[in-house]
Formats: sequence, structure tokens, C-alpha cells
Amino acid sequence: MSKMSDIETQLKNWIPSPFQDAAKNLAKDAIKQFVKQENNQVIGLGSGPMATEIVREMKDGVKNKKTIECIATSFQIKLEAQYSGLKVVDESRIPEIDVVFDGADEIDSKYNMIKGGGGALLKEKIVHLAAKKVVIAAESKKFAETFSWPVPIEVSPFAVSIVIKELEQKAEGRPKLRMLNEGYPYVTENGNFILDTGFDFSATNDIRKKEVELKSIPGVVEVGLFTRHANVYYKANADGSFETIEV
Ligand code: A5P
Repeated sequence: MSKMSDIETQLKNWIPSPFQDAAKNLAKDAIKQFVKQENNQVIGLGSGPMATEIVREMKDGVKNKKTIECIATSFQIKLEAQYSGLKVVDESRIPEIDVVFDGADEIDSKYNMIKGGGGALLKEKIVHLAAKKVVIAAESKKFAETFSWPVPIEVSPFAVSIVIKELEQKAEGRPKLRMLNEGYPYVTENGNFILDTGFDFSATNDIRKKEVELKSIPGVVEVGLFTRHANVYYKANADGSFETIEV
């Protein structure tokens, strides 16, 4: 097994330009506002670049790391958390989550989200459900009037052909099996496939209804439509500033 120092050299710096400064600034603020050391908090960690930025800020920004416990939604963020010296605990602590820090792939004007670009949607949705507070950080370009991103849908491999048929014929979707560059299907940490599925959201004003409809197809494990609103959305601007939106 590699030593942590070997892995450390492979961790990515991947906030897209020109949002790096804003991401750092908002990460500092989020820690100041939401990490309350004296309360022995349980903190949910989403996956992907923005969640990573917050975890990396916690490395120096959290003075006594023994007072917090973290739940990781992927191996990606678990490695980051371990490298930052945070204590990662198991799923039995999920019901106690105080706050979750996470990113989003797209946010519509009603603050629904599409998530799952990194494939971690199942565990992310579970920690969002449990958390007393949800804090989302995203670049300004991800805030849109209506969704245009394909929705990641996690599907049991056994059901993939029938789910594709159902999505096309009943849900008016355009599913595409997520593939790796090497030509293999992408497999989630839960052993499932992802169908990145385009929809015409200009004709759909009830996103929650769509989420429930898609989730009710047998074989669908989880849907990347997140309709639980966050308590706070951090919007990272290109000039290094950020805004907070409470809905
Ligand atoms: C992981 O599967 C995703 O849901 C991420 O949370 C999402 O892709 C957001 O990533 P960013 O950190 O790039 O906003």
C-alpha cells in the first residue's frame, strides 16, 4: 500500500480558473461560520473540487481537529480529509451530522441542484438528508435560470437496458452511459453505472416531481436532482469575491 505522502502528490488542484481565489476565500468563511469546535460537531463532506477546497482549508483553519468527526461521501474526499488530518468516522454517525459542505454541478433559479458529476450522488444525497445544515459552494457560472446539464442517474447494472428504455419512452430523457476514456463503463463506489440523462427542463417546472418520477423506476438507485434546498449557497465570482445566498 502506498504511503500517504505518495498519494498526497497525486491529489488534484482542480478549481477551474479564474475561480481559485474566490474558492479559497469562501472556504475560509464557511469554516468560520459553520465549524463550531466547542460543539464536537459531525461534519458531512461532499465530493469534488469545492468540497476539497473546504477540506484543505480545514487543515490549518480548524485548530483542534479532535473536536470534529467527518463523514466522507467518496474515497476522493476521504483521502483529502485524511491528508488534512481530519478524523473520518463511519456511517453509523450519519444521523448526527450537524453540517455538510458540498459543491454542485448546476443550480437553477429555485435553488434546486444537479449533482453527481463526480459520481458521488448516492452518498451525497444521504448526508444531505441527515444534515441539520447544508452548505453549498459553486462557481457563479453554475447558477442558471433552468437546468441544461444532464442529470446523473445511478443505476444497477442488471437494470441498465430497461432503465434506458423507460427513460427514453416514458420520461422523455436522453440517457447516455457514462464511460471512462479507456472505453470501460464508469462504475460507482457502490458498484453501479451512471446514465447521464438530458431532459428538456424548460417544460418542467416541478423538479421535485421529476426527481420522484425518476426514482420510482425499478433499478434506479439514486437521481442527481437535489431538491432539498441548502441553508446557504456560496457563489464564487471570477474576481475573487463571493456572495452568500440564504433561501
Ligand atoms: C460529486 O459527484 C458531485 O456531486 C460534486 O459535488 C459536484 O460535481 C460538484 O463539484 P464541484 O466541486 O466542481 O462544484
